[in-house]
Amino acid sequence: MPTVVITGANRGIGLEFARQYAADGWKVIATVRDPSQPGGLSDVAGVELFALSADDPASIAGFGAALAGRSIDLLINNAGIMGPDLPRQSKDGIDAEGWLLAMKVNALAPILVAQALKPHLAAGAKVATVSSQLGSITENEVGGMYAYRASKAAINMGNRSLAADWRDDGITCLVLHPGWVQTDMGGPKAPVTPPDSVAGMRRVIAAATPADSSAFFAFDGRRIPW
Ligand SMILES: NC(=O)c1ccc[n+]([C@@H]2O[C@H](COP(=O)([O-])OP(=O)(O)OC[C@H]3O[C@@H](n4cnc5c(N)ncnc54)[C@H](OP(=O)(O)O)[C@@H]3O)[C@@H](O)[C@H]2O)c1
Repeated sequence: MPTVVITGANRGIGLEFARQYAADGWKVIATVRDPSQPGGLSDVAGVELFALSADDPASIAGFGAALAGRSIDLLINNAGIMGPDLPRQSKDGIDAEGWLLAMKVNALAPILVAQALKPHLAAGAKVATVSSQLGSITENEVGGMYAYRASKAAINMGNRSLAADWRDDGITCLVLHPGWVQTDMGGPKAPVTPPDSVAGMRRVIAAATPADSSAFFAFDGRRIPW
């Protein structure tokens, strides 16, 4: 069976990815900050746990090294943060350190993880990075969420470069919008459940061909404008 790596898999959308791929018989390699705190993963059978802190490049490199000799069919860069509390990333003020942490986790880490895993990705492999519609420059008519929006726009651009650079290697690189999802980040009023969001993103990932590499898809298959 194919192997999937999922970052930030102890809760939320990452946990649901782990549940669904494990239920379908995939080999699931799940990363958490601290494997002694697996969160919801303790209820998912057959998952292999690894440590990865997305804000620590050395941790990311160590994860890549720990997978020596393993072949990965799909990398899901899921770990992400909202960044500073919304009033501290607004027209009223910016928390500079919080902005930089959001950039590190949401924009830099997915590229570092992909590059650390490159030796394990053969032709036909896919990299799916969970971005957000809030990173669409075209669709931002309402403002706010400066750090989060900027970090997701940045990863969208990073993914375009990755897709172009790895095209000849046969690796398909996508960015995905999961919808507004009922998680700790999305809150209870979100209209989309994690099972529906993840089922949709899995369909998009499965259908993606090399010709789709560098695209920005929503969980329901819509293309999101940059
Ligand atoms: N929920 C939505 O409506 C929505 C909409 C658009 C995009 N997204 C994106 O979807 C992805 C998953 O979001 P979610 O809703 O599932 O959020 P969540 O419930 O807050 O879960 C975030 C996950 O990321 C992990 N994480 C955060 N910072 C990390 C770090 N420095 N190192 C390692 N892991 C880290 C968390 O681990 P800990 O438990 O250790 O913190 C957790 O597993 C994110 O990229 C988010 O931006 C979500």
